[in-house]
Amino acid sequence: MRRVAVVGAQWGDEGKGKVVNYFARDFDWIVRFAGGANAGHTIYVHDRKYVNHLLPCIVPDGPGRGFLGAGMVVDLGQLVNELEALAADFPGVGAKFAVDPEVFLVLPWHKQQDILLEKMRAEPIGTTGRGIGPAYTDKASREGVKLCHLFDEQMLQERLANSWHMKQILYQGQLTMPPDEVAAELIGLRDRLMKLGVQFTSAVDMGKVFRSTSVLFEGAQGVLLDLDFGTFPFVTSGSCMAHGVSSVGFSTFELDDVAGVLKAYTTRVGAGPFPTEEDSLLTQGIRERGKEYGATTGRPRRVGWLDLPALRYAAIRSGLTSLVITKADVLNGLETVKVCTGYRIDGAVRDIPSTSHDFFVAEPVYEELPGWPSTSHVNFLKYMTFIEEQVHVPITYISYGPKTDEMETKSGLIMSM
Ligand code: IMP
Repeated sequence: MRRVAVVGAQWGDEGKGKVVNYFARDFDWIVRFAGGANAGHTIYVHDRKYVNHLLPCIVPDGPGRGFLGAGMVVDLGQLVNELEALAADFPGVGAKFAVDPEVFLVLPWHKQQDILLEKMRAEPIGTTGRGIGPAYTDKASREGVKLCHLFDEQMLQERLANSWHMKQILYQGQLTMPPDEVAAELIGLRDRLMKLGVQFTSAVDMGKVFRSTSVLFEGAQGVLLDLDFGTFPFVTSGSCMAHGVSSVGFSTFELDDVAGVLKAYTTRVGAGPFPTEEDSLLTQGIRERGKEYGATTGRPRRVGWLDLPALRYAAIRSGLTSLVITKADVLNGLETVKVCTGYRIDGAVRDIPSTSHDFFVAEPVYEELPGWPSTSHVNFLKYMTFIEEQVHVPITYISYGPKTDEMETKSGLIMSM
């Protein structure tokens, strides 16, 4: 039974949603295992656009089903909204999804805390404001609320009351929604999810099913935003790596492939180091052609050139076994394309950063390659070969447009040249 993880190889927004949605036709289960509604995974179904923040990118009218694993932090209101929007076009789609009752919930307070914390930081991270950091903080500090607590209302009330008491001291009374209101809202959302047909099933109960079917794991954000190994502190608070599949009961040794998705260039949204960033007419053009505006917040993304040291770092940290390149068409028509091949750190050129701190001090060293008029031109093939040789991971697929079918295997592309 095939098991594949798809993770972002850069700073997120690489087009994982589209890639997952393309692969999804061949899998029984599509599993999200980390992050929350900070993600924005865009898919097209029958030419209609949907942005999934929490829902795994299943094909809504296909046979595959979606699972929200325990490594996630889930905002139930957002989940209900996404499901209701999808169910309006695909009646009964809610029954295709199951959520692990062990997931931690993003509470209304977490979003308030997220905004207050950003205001207090000397250097704001530029979070999405979706309450992700505070929800994961409550998990680690053991004040959080899990989905399973919604089935024990007394425990829920007690946990919320205690958490509220502590938070009002820490935040000097600035949080607004008292615990009984939060509890009533959560119970209402739980009931709406049940009405939509969503199942609450743990990875333990899914164990046999997952092991006898094909599973596609859908990562969130990208390796360089990973809490442990990304450009800390300018990272998200969850795992962005393939090893996050452990929250669904799998080991990375059980994966047949860890596909790293990368853009043909690089983008980043929010603050933090970005060695190959360039703000010029050229990169502004790339931003417009590539519609580089956040799927969750609408913020313009910072744009830069392809960064091979960062990719090598991501490949090692997340054990990438294949690469999927997206948005190659956005660079069509450029005379030359810059690629960062090394980082100058303390006067020496290195081909890979050793630590996340190296990203803060690295000066990019570039090579310039000839551009291509279209992705079926030989120069694009040379670009891909250059990436493969430099990163030591093969490129398997190329995405050349936002629609699900605008995707091709590398060998198919070569045949059509
Ligand atoms: P948070 O995850 O909302 O706490 O944001 C932390 C950092 O991660 C900020 O720089 C965000 O812009 C960035 N971030 C979070 N989710 C995504 C994503 O899905 N794509 C790209 N950047 C993201």
